[in-house]
Amino acid sequence: MTELIWEGKYKDGKKTAPVRIALPFQTIETVNESTQDRQRTLDMFAQGKQTEWRNRLIWGDKKYVLPSLLPEFAGKVNLIYIDPPFNVGSDFSFTATIPDHPDTNEDETTTFTKEPSILEQKAYRDTWGKGLDSYLQWFYETVVYLRELLAEDGSIYVHLDWHIGHYAKTLLDEVFGYENFRNEIIWKRSAITTNVATQWRNSHDIILMYCKSNKSTFNVQFGEYSESSKNHFSYSDENGIYQPVPLLGSGRTLKGETGKKWHGIDPNTIGKKGMHWLRSPSELEELNKQGKIYWPEKGGLPRLKYYLNEAKGVYVPDIWTDINVINSMGSESVGYQTQKPEALLERIIKASSNEEDLILDCFCGSGTTAAVAERLNRRWITCDLGRFAIHTARKRFLEIPNVKPFVVQNLGKYERQAWQSTEFANPQDRAMQEQAYRKFILDLYHAAPVKDYTWLHGIRSKRMVHIGAIDSPVSIGDVKSIIQEFWKSVGKKSDITVNGIDVLGWEFAFDINETASQQANANNIDMKFKKIPRDAMDKHAVEQGDIHFFELAGLDVKAKVKGKKVELKLKDFVIPPDDVPEEVQKAVTHWSQWIDYWAVDWNYREDTFHNEWQSYRIKKDPKIDLETSHSYEEKGKYTIVVKVIDILGNDTTKSLTVEIG
Ligand SMILES: C[S@@+](CC[C@H](N)C(=O)[O-])C[C@H]1O[C@@H](n2cnc3c(N)ncnc32)[C@H](O)[C@@H]1O
Repeated sequence: MTELIWEGKYKDGKKTAPVRIALPFQTIETVNESTQDRQRTLDMFAQGKQTEWRNRLIWGDKKYVLPSLLPEFAGKVNLIYIDPPFNVGSDFSFTATIPDHPDTNEDETTTFTKEPSILEQKAYRDTWGKGLDSYLQWFYETVVYLRELLAEDGSIYVHLDWHIGHYAKTLLDEVFGYENFRNEIIWKRSAITTNVATQWRNSHDIILMYCKSNKSTFNVQFGEYSESSKNHFSYSDENGIYQPVPLLGSGRTLKGETGKKWHGIDPNTIGKKGMHWLRSPSELEELNKQGKIYWPEKGGLPRLKYYLNEAKGVYVPDIWTDINVINSMGSESVGYQTQKPEALLERIIKASSNEEDLILDCFCGSGTTAAVAERLNRRWITCDLGRFAIHTARKRFLEIPNVKPFVVQNLGKYERQAWQSTEFANPQDRAMQEQAYRKFILDLYHAAPVKDYTWLHGIRSKRMVHIGAIDSPVSIGDVKSIIQEFWKSVGKKSDITVNGIDVLGWEFAFDINETASQQANANNIDMKFKKIPRDAMDKHAVEQGDIHFFELAGLDVKAKVKGKKVELKLKDFVIPPDDVPEEVQKAVTHWSQWIDYWAVDWNYREDTFHNEWQSYRIKKDPKIDLETSHSYEEKGKYTIVVKVIDILGNDTTKSLTVEIG
């Protein structure tokens, strides 16, 4: 077999296998689910029944997401489209927009480039760190999983260009089988003619299509006739414009109907090797009665009248010149640099899937594949590592009329647990493992460990440090214990004089920032809450020593109850200053300019955040509401959770309790 070899493909004579850990997904948000659906889902779940299908937007690296999908979806995905990153280093940087001050009518929207996070940079290094060799290994690991996920009658479309396209063809032949290659589609991207002096201007992408077997779904697609094709329809009669097309095909049929004489014409005697009718003589007779057979005036063979109004169009070939790239000023653009046109995905999805089929795209970007799948009534799963991609896609899906409820998921604590148990493995002693983990985070935070405490783990610049558990959010209960221990022990120790506590956590209970800060203030402690960044799990970033722990953003929301109605108003929002370039901070003169999106769960029940109302900025309507209201049907005590996503894609949540009397 001919095979493409790259450095790292084989180790000790064996192909290097991809990471194969299946982690459980965590649903972090349910979007657009009605109260009734939500109750039904809760009931079914409680009874151990299979809950209804929900489309899935997953935030995570395909390296973990794909193997984690395998237990449930191996052999079940009907169509895969991927548009992997393939040529630029700026895969994860994005243009963030600072919206206008709410009291101005002037359009003074400014933008800035948000550089990729360290985790995103790492993904880029995984991909391109060693040039083509590492890219090919990364690509190989992706498609091995994708093949396992694909159904027997499924198809995969891989969107690339000249950088990788030809290497990918060889590699895909190896994974899917040469015989399962179907097409190399050439998509002519642009019509702009820039000058290129030394070679031909490059203007197309390549989309490689493979199937898993010869049973794949394919619905023939038809395109518009070109002007020159339309010119062939140059005849007309009372039924319309038509072109005469042959009724005979080459090759004799000696025994069958189509070899028989019709109107004195014996097809077997035509041409050197004989011919056959393309319809049976009885069908031909019927067509003739309807006046649909063309008999040339000067004699010659009859033809079929092919009417323009009955013609479906031309069979779409493998060169696509009729789909334009996204125009950044056009209505389809959502401001995502690599966004692909919906028409492109529409053609692929219509051709290679049917309604209700399951479609997967593990490089979601702005969400084009899933958005089109949603419109065409297919089920979908899509994932992306970029925070901004997930946020862009969520807003895009919400813009689709009657979008079905979907969930936003990640691998959350499971990804961290997997990391903890590989990094600090100590099967004999779990306590030692915990200690090693805490020491690692303390080092990253440049803090020194302290002994003999339960809740206080380190000290830095006269502040005590608490390290949150890897698998649960820092809760108000934790904060109480931290405060107690602080006063009980630290106050008495003469060797350390401390004046505050930094609480570092991966996640925090909803309203921790405010409630816990109040508690701390009441106890005379200056307490700060800081997020341990996902980057801490990245060895390389750690080696570089540039891990930042950002303070939690602060959100002020007020609720007013009037009978059964609650009016909710955003009052203030502060984001940690060190996350944002200085010039951006200067450009923001009203707190609401930081907010890109906010959503409300009117009846939070300690499960996941159910997005029941939301307001967000989109290009064509950049204004955002700062207040909303809700009417409850039943009396009672309700927990309202408000989730704000800022213009950098970070989210902040806050909960309030209301009593409806
Ligand atoms: C070319 S873009 C996809 C654009 C998309 N087709 C659209 O129409 O918007 C590639 C995407 O892959 C994502 N990506 C890169 N590496 C990834 C990884 N390891 N896991 C998941 N997503 C990744 C990037 O964040 C980026 O959004």
